Amino acid sequence: MNYLGRRFLRSGKVKDIYDAGEDQLLFVYTDRLSSHDVMLADKVPHKGEVLCRLSAYCFTNCSASGIETHLIDVPDQNKMLVKKLFLIPIEVIGRNYLYGSYWKRFQCGEVTLPEGTDPVLAAKLSEPVVEFTTKLEAKDRLITEQDIISYGWLKPEEIEQVKEITLKLNELMSKDSKKAGIILADFKVEFGKDEADKIILIDEAETPDSCRFWDASKYQPGKTQESFDKQIVRDYLERMKGWDKKPPKAGTKLTKPILPDEIIQKTSQRYIEAYERLTGRKF
Ligand SMILES: Nc1ncnc2c1ncn2[C@@H]1O[C@H](COP(=O)(O)OP(=O)(O)OP(=O)(O)O)[C@@H](O)[C@H]1O
Ligand SMILES: [Mg+2]
Repeated sequence: MNYLGRRFLRSGKVKDIYDAGEDQLLFVYTDRLSSHDVMLADKVPHKGEVLCRLSAYCFTNCSASGIETHLIDVPDQNKMLVKKLFLIPIEVIGRNYLYGSYWKRFQCGEVTLPEGTDPVLAAKLSEPVVEFTTKLEAKDRLITEQDIISYGWLKPEEIEQVKEITLKLNELMSKDSKKAGIILADFKVEFGKDEADKIILIDEAETPDSCRFWDASKYQPGKTQESFDKQIVRDYLERMKGWDKKPPKAGTKLTKPILPDEIIQKTSQRYIEAYERLTGRKF
């Protein structure tokens, strides 16, 4: 399919979105990369393709398990045709490990851990936790189920449905990661609604951009874990002169590439490795 004749709608951080007719969108997954919340000008070869093919793989597994998704077709390795839906303005977070902002909130006494969880950094939670944040505000803000109801975004029974789908998706993705020697620490998903108010999984899933993946062979509770895909770039930037461990302000877009070819190539390999290990397929 030629997307050049399609009306360009907008660019997200990673995807370019085109109008593909009345009730369809064409997502072009790009090779754009961010680190430390800064958009880099460097491109990672094959990253877009990996994100697109991993999402397509996951969405296909979802359909087979009774989870409805927005996937219609993959006309090209980095392009996905999807159903255009009404966006539910929340991000749904699934957590399997005590990490990131959840760990920070735990340290401030704001989180009650599932019973039996070790209170140490990067400990496995005794059961998965689902949380919600806003999506369309300048900064994602943690919200409660009650907030979602009072904003009129979802009814109580719809929240239950969203939680149920998120946990089922967690099981599907965790099965793949386990086989691959990868830990799915946490992830974020988005949902939309169709004309009949049916809740449908949208955006992307099982990608290194939407999941926090760790290499199981390097996992050590009580410590900061290496990110499976971003660590090479992150380590380089932290060593880099000029960046000086003080990255530009979050939200900044750099205009000049700053990564050496070797770092780009290694990162690209990492994305491809994630695809091959999670799906068990050759890239
Ligand atoms: N089926 C769909 N219908 C309508 N909008 C969708 C659908 N699937 C995903 N989206 C939206 O399209 C955008 C995808 O682009 P991308 O992921 O690059 O954006 P982003 O910069 O991450 O933006 P955001 O912070 O809003 O997620 C997201 O805003 C997502 O919410
Ligand atoms: Mg996104």
